[in-house]
Amino acid sequence: MIVQRENWGSKLGFILAAAGSAIGLGNIWKFPYIAGENGGAAFIFIYLICIAIIGLPVLIAEILIGRTGNADPVGSFRKLSNSKFWTAVGGMGVMAGFIILSYYAVISGWSLGYIVEAMSGSFNNFVDATDSNAHFGELIGNVWWTVGLQALFMVAVILIVFAGVQKGIERGSKILMPLLLVILLIIMIKGLTLDGADKGLEFLLNPKWEKVTGVTVLMALGHAFFTLSLGMGAMMTYGSYMSKKDSIFTSAVQVIILDTFIALIAGIAIFTAVFAIGQNPAEGPGLIFQTLPVVFAKMPGGYIFGILFFLLLTIAALTSAISLLEVVVSYFVDEKGWARHKAAITFGIVTFLIGLPSALSFNLLGDTKLFGLSFFDIADYLTSNIMLPLGGLLIAIFVGWVWGFDKVLENVKQGAEKLFEQSFWRIQVWKFFLKYLSPVLIFLVLLHSLGLF
Ligand code: PFF
Repeated sequence: MIVQRENWGSKLGFILAAAGSAIGLGNIWKFPYIAGENGGAAFIFIYLICIAIIGLPVLIAEILIGRTGNADPVGSFRKLSNSKFWTAVGGMGVMAGFIILSYYAVISGWSLGYIVEAMSGSFNNFVDATDSNAHFGELIGNVWWTVGLQALFMVAVILIVFAGVQKGIERGSKILMPLLLVILLIIMIKGLTLDGADKGLEFLLNPKWEKVTGVTVLMALGHAFFTLSLGMGAMMTYGSYMSKKDSIFTSAVQVIILDTFIALIAGIAIFTAVFAIGQNPAEGPGLIFQTLPVVFAKMPGGYIFGILFFLLLTIAALTSAISLLEVVVSYFVDEKGWARHKAAITFGIVTFLIGLPSALSFNLLGDTKLFGLSFFDIADYLTSNIMLPLGGLLIAIFVGWVWGFDKVLENVKQGAEKLFEQSFWRIQVWKFFLKYLSPVLIFLVLLHSLGLF
């Protein structure tokens, strides 16, 4: 029996699912604090350039490989290249999916737990950051709390992927993404109307160029990859369910606009509130789980906004996590002939188990370090700083140099005939960025991550 491969029900389905993958902890947890620490608007400016000249070209390339190969990352690379090396690049993507999801689910679990914390009113007792830091430390130090929530979050991820591309991922994204946008807009408006919000805006929008160094540029570039879910086959897998009647160029631009827009309004929502309540903005990774609860404790209506905020963060994390599990599931469905249900449950559980050392890094295994890093830090560093840029570099090289540009053109034009007739220069600009600019810049990021300069 030949089973028809799944696909998206509509163009909007792809865009919302891909935006769901892109918009995640990276936008709401990571972007505001790295922008805050690295020169505010100056960082944002550099980040936007990275998104435009590297993010967009690589995103288009990745979707294109998936749509043309019409299979999981391994199968797509195999079909298009007929080479063991490039097939292995697809395999590296599947591996990265496993590893990222394993630690991503840990932080997502905290977010889920913080919805309950917010609901129970436990933020109300915080007088200053010392209280919320202590509370956070207690929670993540508790094995049952961390692991239990990580498991619960994984159950939600498994259920959605289990239901399939249209009935699970597409339907879920169509409900969750608009909800996410509405909640974020409500929180942003609340932030903007607080007394003292202007100080937050100034902090975020006033460029501090003196804080910008070469490392800032590399951070912006690395973050561009993470936030767009690039370099590991998530966008390839989602692209493989896309119709040849839709334009990859247009869809990629729409996904990027949504992702960037959400990161910016998350930054505005968070910093207006942090400054209005007089907290310290430069709290790094602790901004969300340590600083914000104090902000909610002191803010008028903070009880409701606290619940809404962690609900928002959990939704964002969930739509990203499903794209990570889908990479792995599509591999076992397409390459190994597994049933989707079996693959979703099996690899959901396997990812949970692989994530245990990361979850335990904050408690039982707190003292176990390799090269001075915890399991959690190693998984994050290995994927964000090495596997994703390396994957992105190879994807750019494959589409720019190896595949054959005539074939690339023929395929990328499908669904975008009009656009190409009207402005062929777009393709030339894309080709130039992909062939020359992206590989060189990504290579520099990699060398930096490996400590070679
Ligand atoms: N883009 C997600 C975020 O910003 O949180 C993270 C991510 C999801 C990375 C899916 C890679 C991926 F395949």
